[in-house]
Amino acid sequence: MADHIQKLREITRLLLEEPLRYPVVRDAAFSLKDLFQEVIAFEESEISLAHIETNYGRAVSPVSAAFCIIDFMRTRMFIKGTAEAISLRLQKNPGKPVAVLYAGTGPFASLLTPLTTLFSPSELKMVLLELNPVSIEYLHKTISIFSMGDYVLDVIQADASTYQIETGRHPDIILTETMMPGLYREPIVNIFANLAAQCPRAIMIPELVKIEAALISNRSPTGHKVLPLKTLMEISSATGATMNNHERCPAVFHKGIDVEIPAFPDPIYTKVVLLTYIKVFADNNLGLNESSLTIPFFLKSAKLIKEFPPVVRFKYERGLFPGFQFSDINDLSKGWFH
Ligand SMILES: C[S@@+](CC[C@H](N)C(=O)[O-])C[C@H]1O[C@@H](n2cnc3c(N)ncnc32)[C@H](O)[C@@H]1O
Repeated sequence: MADHIQKLREITRLLLEEPLRYPVVRDAAFSLKDLFQEVIAFEESEISLAHIETNYGRAVSPVSAAFCIIDFMRTRMFIKGTAEAISLRLQKNPGKPVAVLYAGTGPFASLLTPLTTLFSPSELKMVLLELNPVSIEYLHKTISIFSMGDYVLDVIQADASTYQIETGRHPDIILTETMMPGLYREPIVNIFANLAAQCPRAIMIPELVKIEAALISNRSPTGHKVLPLKTLMEISSATGATMNNHERCPAVFHKGIDVEIPAFPDPIYTKVVLLTYIKVFADNNLGLNESSLTIPFFLKSAKLIKEFPPVVRFKYERGLFPGFQFSDINDLSKGWFH
């Protein structure tokens, strides 16, 4: 076996190793990024550093996409969750390969390429979808260098927020990691709205993303103290399918959700934030501060809480610049704030 494929196998084993040892997973994630960059001859240049702004949010640059790998608990949980979802589908339909549509592969299809060391081409098939043409070029190199040709049904350059799946090509699993904390800027909500609606029977990965408005304390060695206020949004296969439906679309996308702010909270709470929780699949979760995707998204200093109205309205904007906005419910004329 070629040396780099042997290395990929060993790195994948360490990334997914049980029981979890943080330093081992961290080193494995760094090794995975180095391996990809080295064997694909990935270069940092003006074009590989450029993000693409779409009508539905930002597609991050090939360089940023490569850097995501070293967010090591993210990488472990997404790869592990995807492996478990594939195994579950294989158990349900023995002998039938599981088709994964990977929306937003980046240059290395980082969350699926390692799984070629665990599943054969008769068990796993991939449709690789990516918007960025520079990433697509590197992706072709990845497929060739890691001998993935027998796994790949198609490589598609398209916007996953609008892409229409061909009849008869509906995947068993849809995988996307196109998000930031607080669902800010990147298009995961629009991608769910488009793809989950077209594939009601597919497993969506992540299975659930929950956003909560909360008050939190400053970070101490034991973490943050959290006072949850209200859940603002849940994205899943079920809610994704309702987002483009005029009658069933969740309120957070149109009239908004009202959140009561406590008048005299414990002074330990210093910030009003959005908290992001991710259930990748089954028992593979990312909680507060466990990855860069689940750090608190700062909205306002709690010192200013006395200036806060007793009720704040939150809305999610799905256009060019996705993200939550909030407003004083008593004076909507003051406009919406990010
Ligand atoms: C955060 S990176 C993740 C890269 C890789 N999947 C990983 O998890 O390590 C997101 C990737 O999705 C791509 N992307 C973002 N929005 C997209 C869209 N609407 N359609 C297709 N690809 C998109 C970006 O170009 C980028 O390569």
